[in-house]
Amino acid sequence: MKIKKRLGVNIDHVATIRNARGEKYPDPLHAALVAQKSGADSITIHLREDRRHIKDHDLRIIKKKLKIPLNLEMSATKEMFKIAIKHKPNYVCIVPEKRLEITTEGGLNLHHKINFLKQIILNLKKKNIRVALFIEPKISDVIISKKIGADCVELHTGRYCNLFNNKNKTKSSFLSIKKAATYGKKIGLDVHAGHGLTYDTLRHISKIHPISEFNIGHFIIAESIFIGLKKSIKKFKKIISG
Ligand code: PXP
Repeated sequence: MKIKKRLGVNIDHVATIRNARGEKYPDPLHAALVAQKSGADSITIHLREDRRHIKDHDLRIIKKKLKIPLNLEMSATKEMFKIAIKHKPNYVCIVPEKRLEITTEGGLNLHHKINFLKQIILNLKKKNIRVALFIEPKISDVIISKKIGADCVELHTGRYCNLFNNKNKTKSSFLSIKKAATYGKKIGLDVHAGHGLTYDTLRHISKIHPISEFNIGHFIIAESIFIGLKKSIKKFKKIISG
């Protein structure tokens, strides 16, 4: 049976542009509402510990006004856990965070603070929040994710996209994603993918059938400069639906 594939639109970089000048525009809420109208299945925001793009008030207002599900990306810290419990986004995706990185460079280290992670997952799920873990496409990490109670895994596609963009061989990286996705689905996880995806890379990755959700941000916002947010989202939706 063909599963319906979803597009999560990450609007962090609307806030990046706003913050570059300390103005009130462009407004991430406005972007979230346009994305909603243009066919996005969910909106993703990453509230970083250093609040470099999305701010606490963005989370508050977007959660209040949005009709489609809100996916909050956050690191596994007590502060972020409290924020998630307070605002109750529909989904949480737990990601690693390094202060000096430009973007989320790799998947979670599931051997670090595993009991804390397990506790966070359990408590978020008790509040009816769907919990995903952002991991490297490795079967061992898929197994641990299932063991510690995650509902979903989001496979990091950054390495694949870098290889593709630099015209390097992608076969083994693609296979790792495919194997991890197939295994994840087999053991009952919902499998997502994200990071660095463009029209071209998504055309390949979306052929991996067990992947049911794609979270895409930087390229959508970059494309919006030329064709607008609505058209960019519609192009991605068309690719996903095959
Ligand atoms: N998924 C996760 C878990 C992420 O951390 C990010 C980056 O914030 C994305 C998807 C989107 O990546 P990009 O902005 O490169 O499309």
